[in-house]
Amino acid sequence: MARRILLINGPNLSLLGTREPHIYGSTTLDDVVAQAQAQAQQLGVAVEAFQSNHEGAIVDRIHAARGQVDAVVINPGAYTHTSIAIRDALLGVELPFVEVHLSNVHTREDFRKHSYLSDKAQAVVCGLGVFGYTVGIEFAAKHMKLKTELPRS
Ligand code: DQA
Repeated sequence: MARRILLINGPNLSLLGTREPHIYGSTTLDDVVAQAQAQAQQLGVAVEAFQSNHEGAIVDRIHAARGQVDAVVINPGAYTHTSIAIRDALLGVELPFVEVHLSNVHTREDFRKHSYLSDKAQAVVCGLGVFGYTVGIEFAAKHMKLKTELPRS
């Protein structure tokens, strides 16, 4: 069966295109989602996209994804640096995930250098701009180890 991928964008990513374009570029979130859908068709996978500015809504969406998708590609926005709840949700549903950041968070403020997700992510992409989503989706579609394929410990 074709892989199903959930693409999650966290707070303020709805402003992509107009938000600090010198950092995040001029591509809108609608463009990102359209590009992800086109890519999904090429790759023969299904991509569902979700964006929320609310931590609990992201937690709820991750819960709803249990058993419904194979992998998550997530840009948690600022929740990267604060949210134990999103970390726990991803671990709780046992879905493998790729963490994506448009900017290179390691060249910015110190508080952006810590992520509550990175040590549990199968991959972390940062600094590639919107191309990071393309990379994350291709990895999730072709190379990601899914739960069923992971060795039991
Ligand atoms: C971001 C980086 C975060 O530090 C920031 O809060 C964001 C976007 C990125 O894509 O570079 O909202 O995740």
